[in-house]
Amino acid sequence: MSLLEVNNLHTHFVSHDLNNRLRVAKGLNGVSFEVDKGEIVGIVGETGAGKSLTAMSIMGLLQLPARIVEGSVRFDANELVGLGVEELNKIRGTQLTMIVQSPLSSLDPLSRVGKQLVRAQQEHRSISADDAWRAGADMLATVGIPDAERRMRAWPHELSGGMAQRVLIALALINGPRMLIADEPTTGLDVTVQAQILDLLRTLVADRDMAAMIITHDLGVVAHYCTRMCVMFAGSIVESGPVRQVFNDARHPYTQALISSTPKRIAQKGYGQIGGPPPNLYDLPLGCHYRDRCSRAADICHSTPPVTGVGDKHEAMCHFADESGANPAAAHHG
Ligand SMILES: Nc1ncnc2c1ncn2[C@@H]1O[C@H](COP(=O)(O)OP(=O)(O)OP(=O)(O)O)[C@@H](O)[C@H]1O
Ligand code: SF4
Ligand SMILES: [Mg+2]
Repeated sequence: MSLLEVNNLHTHFVSHDLNNRLRVAKGLNGVSFEVDKGEIVGIVGETGAGKSLTAMSIMGLLQLPARIVEGSVRFDANELVGLGVEELNKIRGTQLTMIVQSPLSSLDPLSRVGKQLVRAQQEHRSISADDAWRAGADMLATVGIPDAERRMRAWPHELSGGMAQRVLIALALINGPRMLIADEPTTGLDVTVQAQILDLLRTLVADRDMAAMIITHDLGVVAHYCTRMCVMFAGSIVESGPVRQVFNDARHPYTQALISSTPKRIAQKGYGQIGGPPPNLYDLPLGCHYRDRCSRAADICHSTPPVTGVGDKHEAMCHFADESGANPAAAHHG
C-alpha cells in the first residue's frame, strides 16, 4: 500500500446561472495515482489542467464552488475525503503538508519568521516556546538559511524570494511530515536558487524517507528530480510512469507534444498553448478530451479511451497507447 493513494477523484465546480439552471465545470475527471515513500512524483500539464486542483483536493483545501463529488484520497491508509476540519488538521500541517502556488502571500506579513515557526509547532503539539524556537532555528539552518538565529527575527518583507521560499519549506517541514506537496515551489526564482531548493528537497526526501509531489511547469525539473511523473490534461491524468520511460517512450500525443516542444517554443507561445486552447470544462467533448487538438484523432476517439498499461507502472489514456514510438504523421487518420 502506498503512502498516498488517490483513486478516481472527481472535483467539480457547481453553481447556478441567472436562470437558476445548474452549471457544472468538471475540474477533475477521475484522477488516480499513488505516491510511495522515497518517491518524488512530478505533476505536469498546461495551465488550467487541474494540477493545483488535485493538490487542493488532496489537502481538503477546496473552496466553494469546488467540491469533491466522487473518489477517494487515502493517506497512510486513512480516508481523507469527507473528514471534518478537526480530523483533517491532525494530518495537515503535521504528516502531510503543502507549499501553495503563491508563496509570498502565504507567509504572514505581520509575524516575524521565528514566531511563525513557533506557532506552526504549537498549533499541533505541546512544546515550550524556547524549544520551538530552537527547533525553528535548526530547521532554518537545515533548509540552507545562513545565520539562522538572526533570520528568526526577520520580517517576511525583509527576505529575498529564495529566502522566503526556504522559510516556507521550513514551515512545511517543521513538524516532520511524511509527505510534502509543493505547487510550483521554485517558479520565479533564479536558476541557481531553484537548483539549491530542489536539491534540498531531494536530500530531505532521501534522508527522512519522505514522499513528495512536485507540481511544475518545467519538464527539466521533472527529468532531474522526479522518479515518476503524471501528465494532466483537462482534469485527467493522460499519462503516468517512471520519468525516464515517459520521456523515452511517451505514448499519449499530448505528452509527445509537450516533450518535443522546445523551451523556445514554450517561451514564445506559452506552455499552455501547445496545439490550441484547453477544452471548456463546462462542456467537455464526448470521448477523448484531447480529440480536438490531436493530430492522430480517429473515429474511435469519439469514445472514451481506456487507461492502458504500456510498461512497468507506465500507463496512457489513449486508444493507440499500445503503439510505441508513435509518429503523429504516420497513421490513424480518419
Ligand atoms: N470557480 C471556478 N469555476 C469554474 N472553473 C474553475 C473555477 N476555479 C477554477 N476553475 C478551473 O479549474 C481548472 C483547474 O485549475 P488549476 O488551478 O488546478 O490549474 P493548474 O493546472 O494548477 O494551472 P496553472 O498551471 O496555471 O497553475 C481551470 O481550468 C480553471 O479554469
Ligand atoms: S484517444 Fe485519439 S484523440 Fe485521444 S489522444 Fe489518443 S489518438 Fe488522440
Ligand atoms: Mg496551479
